Amino acid sequence: MILVAYKVRSTMLNKLLYMETFGCQMNVNDSERIVTMLADLGYAPTNDPAASDMILLNTCSVRGGAEEKVYRRLANLRIYKRDGKKQIIAVGGCVAQQEGEELLRKLPYLDLVIGTHNLHLLPEMVRGAERGERRSETTFIDNDQRLDLFPSIKGESRLSRFVTVMQGCDNFCSYCIVPFVRGREISRRSADILTEVRQLADDGVREVILLGQNVNSYGLKTESEPTFAELIRQVAEIDGIDRIRFTTSHPKDMSDELIACFGDVAKLSGQIHLPAQSGSDAVLKLMGRGYTRDSYLAKVHKIKTLRPDIVVTGDIIVGFPGETDADFEETLSLMEQVRYIDLFSFVYSPRPGTKAAELSDDLPRAVKMARLDRLMELQRRHTGEISQTYTGSVMSVLVEGEGKFPGQVSGKGEIGRIVNFPGDSSLIGSIVDVRIIKAYPNSFLGEL
Ligand code: 5AD
Ligand code: SF4
Repeated sequence: MILVAYKVRSTMLNKLLYMETFGCQMNVNDSERIVTMLADLGYAPTNDPAASDMILLNTCSVRGGAEEKVYRRLANLRIYKRDGKKQIIAVGGCVAQQEGEELLRKLPYLDLVIGTHNLHLLPEMVRGAERGERRSETTFIDNDQRLDLFPSIKGESRLSRFVTVMQGCDNFCSYCIVPFVRGREISRRSADILTEVRQLADDGVREVILLGQNVNSYGLKTESEPTFAELIRQVAEIDGIDRIRFTTSHPKDMSDELIACFGDVAKLSGQIHLPAQSGSDAVLKLMGRGYTRDSYLAKVHKIKTLRPDIVVTGDIIVGFPGETDADFEETLSLMEQVRYIDLFSFVYSPRPGTKAAELSDDLPRAVKMARLDRLMELQRRHTGEISQTYTGSVMSVLVEGEGKFPGQVSGKGEIGRIVNFPGDSSLIGSIVDVRIIKAYPNSFLGEL
């Protein structure tokens, strides 16, 4: 869970918004947009739910646990609405999309349910709720209208920003709820993306993170738009933008054209997130991923050949229906071959309405957990070993703010990891060379 609370420019902030964000970067990005939209209605962010005039949970339903957490959280937060206090309680994101009106029926203290295609309605919904109106909006909207509703954030200027390039997903991996709760895939107009990046560069932003459920398939279904590789090259031409990252990628759409960018677009980051999900061909087939273990490894190999210093991160699901011990060993051996610097690993969780939910999920929980433990143990070893190799090396760091301790500043190196080092705040906004003196599991300590 992420608390999004930062300063917004507004002259009349007299109400307080408490928000919790669950799940992916897409939700973090939406939450930033919500803060900006609600600032226009006089809401300022707060970290104190008890003092707030509005509580909003921006939810995720990718895995079952996340969903139940939202229900528990709502049950806890409702205590602040007792004693006749006028406080708006709202749910947005994927659980809102999935459950819709049902949530209003189940939870009498809930005021608003905002689906994933309906954020633009939030201001009028909040105005209605201030007058006591309860409302749920979860209708998917058509593509023409969607093109004009891509989020662009007008909040306080920062050095690194997300830029949404596409939304939704048409892949229907057998385990995944995303196509159902985020809708069909749509690519944003490249002209709009480039205008936004130019504006961000003018505002002082130096790093953009191109965001979407599957950015690699950007433009593939729209003749008039460039491919993702071409889009990256166009973004790279914008003066003032020094770094480009993207997330998240589907290996099947990692084309040679896109891989080539790692060889000759100097601004492209030294880190790639390429979720494999499994190392077993049998499981990949049941997941409907559209690639094999060998073709995945071949793509990683090509990227590493072009950019030997690149680090790879990924996602793995353990305990998919029918996963045998041998399948699981294949996943561990894939990890040995790729050597991820970081890995997000999940126990398979059946999602209602997905194809995999119809498969028999009869692997005992203890087996799934034991596999997850082994996988995480291996990953800890890899993370530690890879991190150590940076000790003594020099990284180019975009300094983004104050560091962990007084007298320190902090930023990200090319590989996307946080680097803290002694320095004063005049360095914020510049890219400096920092020698790494100590590697921690998730960050580095360095010296200028
Ligand atoms: N069960 C477990 N993990 C899942 N993910 C997506 N759907 C499920 C599911 N049903 C994981 C995948 C994906 C990440 C965002 O969440 O690894 O890449
Ligand atoms: Fe889900 Fe697969 Fe689409 Fe990723 S590519 S969002 S895992 S359906």
